Amino acid sequence: MNVLGISAFYHDSAAALVQDGVLVAAAQEERFTRKKHDAAFPANAIAYCLQRGGVAPNGLDAVVYYDKPITTFVRLLKTYLRVGPKGMRSFLQAMPTWTREKLWIPYEIERGLDQLGYRSPKKLWFTEHHESHAASAFFPSPFESAAILTFDGVGEWATSSIGVGRGNTISIERQLTFPNSLGLLYSAFTYFCGFRVNSGEYKLMGLAPYGRPIYTDRIYEHLIDLRNDGSFRMDMRYFNYLSGLTMTNRRFAALFDGPPRSPESDITQRELDLAASIQVVTEDIVMRMARYAARVTGECNAVLAGGVALNCVANGKLLREGPFDRIWIQPAAGDAGGAVGAALYGWHQVLGKPRHADGEHDSMRGAYLGPRFSSDEIAAWLDEHGYPYERRTGVDRARNVAARIARGDVVGVMQGRMEFGPRALGHRSIIGDARSASMQSTMNLKIKYRESFRPFAPAVLEDHASKVFEIEPGVVSPYMLLVAGVRDELRIVPDEEPVRDTDLRKWVNEVRSTLPAITHVDYSARLQTVTADTSPEFHSIIEAFDELTGCPVVINTSFNVRGEPIVCTPDDAYRCFMRTEMDTLVLEDCILTKSEQPAYDDAGNWQHEFALD
Ligand SMILES: [Fe+2]
Repeated sequence: MNVLGISAFYHDSAAALVQDGVLVAAAQEERFTRKKHDAAFPANAIAYCLQRGGVAPNGLDAVVYYDKPITTFVRLLKTYLRVGPKGMRSFLQAMPTWTREKLWIPYEIERGLDQLGYRSPKKLWFTEHHESHAASAFFPSPFESAAILTFDGVGEWATSSIGVGRGNTISIERQLTFPNSLGLLYSAFTYFCGFRVNSGEYKLMGLAPYGRPIYTDRIYEHLIDLRNDGSFRMDMRYFNYLSGLTMTNRRFAALFDGPPRSPESDITQRELDLAASIQVVTEDIVMRMARYAARVTGECNAVLAGGVALNCVANGKLLREGPFDRIWIQPAAGDAGGAVGAALYGWHQVLGKPRHADGEHDSMRGAYLGPRFSSDEIAAWLDEHGYPYERRTGVDRARNVAARIARGDVVGVMQGRMEFGPRALGHRSIIGDARSASMQSTMNLKIKYRESFRPFAPAVLEDHASKVFEIEPGVVSPYMLLVAGVRDELRIVPDEEPVRDTDLRKWVNEVRSTLPAITHVDYSARLQTVTADTSPEFHSIIEAFDELTGCPVVINTSFNVRGEPIVCTPDDAYRCFMRTEMDTLVLEDCILTKSEQPAYDDAGNWQHEFALD
């Protein structure tokens, strides 16, 4: 039985296929169309999922869409009625996509499937937005029962929810509703600090360790009225997202000492302090909600989803200091993951099919749910284009790649199935030597074409993780969603804290540990733990690197350049390889050396774009 989940038309469109209860494929549309955060009907992602599942043209049994468009439309209309003529511009901007697409979603889906050659099933279901997030958090989790926490910007009305999952059902017990929203509050600060809403939140979180939380009192006094259970009311006189096209207004600017930072301009101490302050408030809200959820559900484990669940600093704190023994976070915590939630909701909740959780393993397959390309196919493609390569397999391959990393190569890897969700987890990654003090700026400037204030993330062999990072043995972070400190004995603490200015480039190049490229200024790291079970390809490379150097850690950053989606195909990977100063490209068993490649047409067209990211 085939159940297709779709999330589309807002941001990060995606599709997921559940086949007899098993999640067999999921992908985001942006990877195929090469348009970052593509919100279009995910025709390519659907085509991929159905083809991967071997679904016949009339073999689709149900389609589940990840929110209820009519309810959202009603919320919009009510909001516009509330704010009156002030909202006219925003209203006029929003309406065309509603009247063209969003109100016609059943027809859009039917037409889209028809164009792909599939018959639309009679069963077309709609879940509520936060039900999709909740379903994506609980159903694939390892737990038989758990408290469910979701937080994002907004769905229909809900902006966060507390629920419980038991066996094959979920129920949502409490909701916080629009316009009070942790996601929108965080996005308001993202906007005010000059980053893009819905994508720059990560950057704001990365800035927080540089700042001092001096604005927290002002946030509590003026912006939000926070209760013990984590719910809150926002003072909408400071925000503009009800009626306008911006997130914050003049009153907000007056409260925080001046106008918003314009994008790409220099970051000042104020932005650092604002980032630190909103991070403290976010953690406070998450912790209060978590304690309340633990009390009302009586559960000792929790599962999380929604965009705010990508705040791995808050997750780390929740795990260390929160009320739950264990937490599991949906790796595609944003709206793309709604496709997985919707499909699993259809299978378990609507169709009532049983669910088996073993308490240990989740059913996300390491988030490796996208397309894979065989070595033979790649070799044929390389031969056809006359791109030289050497072919190596097994341990020989792993050792060859490890030796290249150890000699300082920046290595692009494309191996196994593409990741689902915003993080690259070793299958579409750029990897390098975390011990090198210069690797961070090399990778940023020569490969990613940005100057970053964020260190890279480490990928570490799971068995060795607690030797390098401050986590309990047995705690895992397969999806790079937890932050932990680098262990004391590896830290390099300056005798005296250097005098600070806001030139983050100086800060970020300070050596903070024996693994400088992955250690933040507060000695934290955003880690991925790697096992041979979920990714034998990636695990074997790090293992060989550990054998060679005694270091079980490599740098792992996404395989893309600034502004582009992560690569999907060998073609995407080769183009990115040739347009940057990457040294080695690994395409499954085929290993390519930059200096041996023929001149590349596209290379001259590439413009270096230096900016903070
Ligand atoms: Fe959402």
